[in-house]
Amino acid sequence: MTNTTDTSSTVTVAVVFRTVVNVRVPFFDTTLRDGEQCPGATMTHSEKLEIAELLDEMGVDIIEAGFPIASQGDFRAVAEIAERTKDAVVCGLARANLADIDRAWEALRGARRPRIHTFIGTSPSHRAIPNLTMDQMAERIHETVTHARNLCDNVQWSPMDATRTEWDYLKRVVEIAIRAGAGTINIPDTVGYTAPEESANLIRRLIAEVPGADEVIFATHCHDDLGMATANSLAAVAGGARQIECTINGLGERAGNTALEEVVMALKVRHDIMPWHTRIDTTRIMNISRRVAAASGFQVQFNKAIVGKNAFLHESGIHQDGVLKNVETFEIMRPEDIGLSVSNLVMGKHSGRAALRSKLRDLGYEVGDNQLQDVFVRFKALADRKKEVYDEDLVALMRADEDPRNDRLAVKSLRVVCGTEGPQTADLTMVIDGAETSTTQTGDGPVDATFNAVKTLFPHNARLQLYQVEAVTHGTDAQATVSVRLEADGLIATGQSADTDTVVASARAYVNALNNLLERRARSASNGDGPGISYMDVS
Ligand code: KIV
Ligand code: ZN
Repeated sequence: MTNTTDTSSTVTVAVVFRTVVNVRVPFFDTTLRDGEQCPGATMTHSEKLEIAELLDEMGVDIIEAGFPIASQGDFRAVAEIAERTKDAVVCGLARANLADIDRAWEALRGARRPRIHTFIGTSPSHRAIPNLTMDQMAERIHETVTHARNLCDNVQWSPMDATRTEWDYLKRVVEIAIRAGAGTINIPDTVGYTAPEESANLIRRLIAEVPGADEVIFATHCHDDLGMATANSLAAVAGGARQIECTINGLGERAGNTALEEVVMALKVRHDIMPWHTRIDTTRIMNISRRVAAASGFQVQFNKAIVGKNAFLHESGIHQDGVLKNVETFEIMRPEDIGLSVSNLVMGKHSGRAALRSKLRDLGYEVGDNQLQDVFVRFKALADRKKEVYDEDLVALMRADEDPRNDRLAVKSLRVVCGTEGPQTADLTMVIDGAETSTTQTGDGPVDATFNAVKTLFPHNARLQLYQVEAVTHGTDAQATVSVRLEADGLIATGQSADTDTVVASARAYVNALNNLLERRARSASNGDGPGISYMDVS
């Protein structure tokens, strides 16, 4: 369903756009690089592979799979995604030095369609950090883009913080990168500083004034610090950009990146005034949004455009009345357009395996017979405790089934005493490295008592950075999804769990975060990786 504004000026604009720019705009997804670099959003190897596959299947044109020099884990993820991806171009990030570019190419060379993305900060404050003069930086850009181009036919170059770079210098370096062989010039609004009109003009003027600009693609890469990333990206397209960079759910550092789902749906719903096509299958949006939220540990805010829980709900009485009379009163798009079933009530305890398998398929999960049997047992247990099992409950159930590992720690049993008469107490039994061990601890509330019990059984120095509870569906028997983020020695890990008992979900989420932290620590010790790598260090 589209909503058209039938004023003559809009119609004129639409007609002009249609004849001049009725073309497809490729999507470049950087959930696995810019999104994942957000502190606490680190994903496991298998989660990265799964998300890359979903991105490819939904029609994303270019997948930025990671930053190969950053760690052995990043390298391995980029290399494996490069080998597995069927349609999309697979891209790896590299700073402006030869070692980064060589490492990126090593990871990408197995891809059907590889791309090296190299960048350097060109604004005054970014230039100051590597302490390069304008001429030295220009020389470095020439040298590194030429090197990348000698390795790979498809090279993208970005002047980081382009929107705060002096205009003459920006033009100069963009021209150098084009002459050195970059086929895509990405113009990042690194700190989310620009505004729509400026964003459009910047691209328009670069195309008009830089020699050779008509032979390359200009891309837009916006951050959402002022809440304008979607508007700025769409404006850049109006200015001539032909690649939109974004992440699922707008995942990313600080306020995040442009959200893929917002730009795609804006182009679909307002095709009358923004007539650019995409290859994105919008019905896959909800599924990938849920997977990214679960893998990153960053839950989507309820009122988030397109994928927030409330995006298609009509809570107020007036709205409900309007929707019942005519769905177009308050809805500009249909839930089905993004893959959200209208009635997502699934089944109760009498539903069989075939129905479960078919529902899981609708939700994007193909399960084999063994996995189905396992999920079915847990589905029945949940249906016994809960009258109605919804799509979200099944997604939470499937999450618990993913990524089977040899975790060092597991919750065996938990009993808590809580209420007005303290002290709140937790009796916890855990299995640690195969041995069962128990304790009873008190705390300031049942969750605090439970976390104290975990710390007693497995002493550690991790600090709790985030504890978040979200009801998976409505009703007092709803499952709660609990997210926990822990930090220790510069490493951050998240854990999640869902259960109808919030305290049980909290204990499991905490232990899951601890397992992830232990795994991360072991991995970074064996790889010799530090806790981070600076984008500004180009030595
Ligand atoms: O925001 C930014 O400038 C980036 C670059 C590395 C392209 O993500
Ligand atoms: Zn960015």
